[in-house]
Amino acid sequence: MEGRAVLSNQGMISNTELLSRYDQRVPRYTSYPTAPHFHPGVQEAAYRRWLAELDPGIPLSLYVHVPFCDSLCWFCGCHTKIVRRYAPVATYLELLLREIGLVADALTGRRWVCHLHLGGGTPTMLAAADLERLFAALRGTFDMDPDADIAVEIDPRALTHDSVAALGRVGVNRASLGLQDLDPRVQKAVNRVQSLEETQDIATALRRAGVGSLNIDLMYGLPHQTITGMRATIDAVMGLAPERVCLFGYAHVPWMKRHQRLIDEAALPGPEDRFAQYMAATERLQEAGYVWIGLDHFALPDDPLAVALRERRLHRNFQGYTTDEASARLGFGPSAIGGLPQGFVQNVTAMPAYRTAIEAGQLPVQRGLALSDDDRLQSAVIEQLMCYLEVDLEAICRRFGCSADVFDDAVAGLAEPVADGLVTIEGGMIRVSPQGRPFVRTICAQFDGYLAPGTQRHAHAV
Ligand SMILES: C[S@@+](CC[C@H](N)C(=O)[O-])C[C@H]1O[C@@H](n2cnc3c(N)ncnc32)[C@H](O)[C@@H]1O
Ligand code: SF4
Repeated sequence: MEGRAVLSNQGMISNTELLSRYDQRVPRYTSYPTAPHFHPGVQEAAYRRWLAELDPGIPLSLYVHVPFCDSLCWFCGCHTKIVRRYAPVATYLELLLREIGLVADALTGRRWVCHLHLGGGTPTMLAAADLERLFAALRGTFDMDPDADIAVEIDPRALTHDSVAALGRVGVNRASLGLQDLDPRVQKAVNRVQSLEETQDIATALRRAGVGSLNIDLMYGLPHQTITGMRATIDAVMGLAPERVCLFGYAHVPWMKRHQRLIDEAALPGPEDRFAQYMAATERLQEAGYVWIGLDHFALPDDPLAVALRERRLHRNFQGYTTDEASARLGFGPSAIGGLPQGFVQNVTAMPAYRTAIEAGQLPVQRGLALSDDDRLQSAVIEQLMCYLEVDLEAICRRFGCSADVFDDAVAGLAEPVADGLVTIEGGMIRVSPQGRPFVRTICAQFDGYLAPGTQRHAHAV
């Protein structure tokens, strides 16, 4: 790997040293508190109460999970199931439609929606006619803002032109296409063979169907991946002219995702190579004119995500960085997570339990968490750091009506990253330096009131 080093207050410090100190197993902070801290004390009754209490004036954001794919990528960390027949997908749609009705009944009155995200799995496993039924149900239940952001995750290998046309008809205006890496050796090692041409074909068809914004998902840290191969992938992806790119570090968690054992661990890059891949990819994407957002998102300068960064309207949720400002987000489908002003709820993950609950007319909540004032304060600090790489503790504490002293221990815990040149502290202003940016999750962990060191089993920070 390239021998970069940063100048710390104690002299030069190598990447090896930085990684050994800061590449810790920490959460990705797509929520705070993070999902492992949700508990079964929050059940359907709490969710029903929270829904009924929602201020009718606030816009909603909806997340719909479709937990099916037609082939298994061995790296996959998502909640999904491989299906060979359409019957389970068709059956699932009926349950999903019932769940939408159940949630709507628990709300007081009709609500308006400013964001809708279909994720998975692969939502386009739904046949064109079923996709239209789903949207008809959503539009029949909620008032969709004419400018609503309507996004869908797509596996370009499994998409017909029929489905692309349906996506256009139902009003999808942003599509996120999984690509990962174009190197044939990497693709074979993860059981995801996907050509540039088929991705290009779908991207062109989506644009023609009126889907105005495209995102491409790339990954680093996969088996046999190289910097040269990643640069070639990025250069090829630039030909698709996506408005956004996500660059995810492969989270290898075979104790949670058993199929990841199919991946040859000996072919996985070590921490230093992963880091070099990440940095090389961030450089290439910036050279291509993309604005680097937070940890792992990139957007063209006039894309709403880059504008939100400049205008300090950026947020982070389970889909990553977002312009979604809704304070209430409802999740539908197994494993889906909802975030309301009162707290989080997560649906059951297993399909049989989901079906049983829906057929009994129950909201299929498995667990959740009611937010405390401390949670809200810590969440605000962590979200600022994840989005803007800086946080004004005094300003946040003023907003919450407390003294910044509450963070004295967290700030004291930053002494080492400060000495290593990763963080600066001036009064209540904490800034993550360019060298500290890849480790921002580890820096956020100082403000995480739930993290007992050594007890969590997350993927590495970089
Ligand atoms: C749920 S998939 C949705 C898209 C679609 N199913 C596909 O794969 O093309 C979203 C993205 O998550 C990323 N991803 C999946 N498993 C991951 C893992 N273990 N670590 C990091 N990123 C992962 C991939 O980049 C993938 O494109
Ligand atoms: S297509 Fe997407 S969700 Fe399905 S297995 Fe592959 S990465 Fe996972």
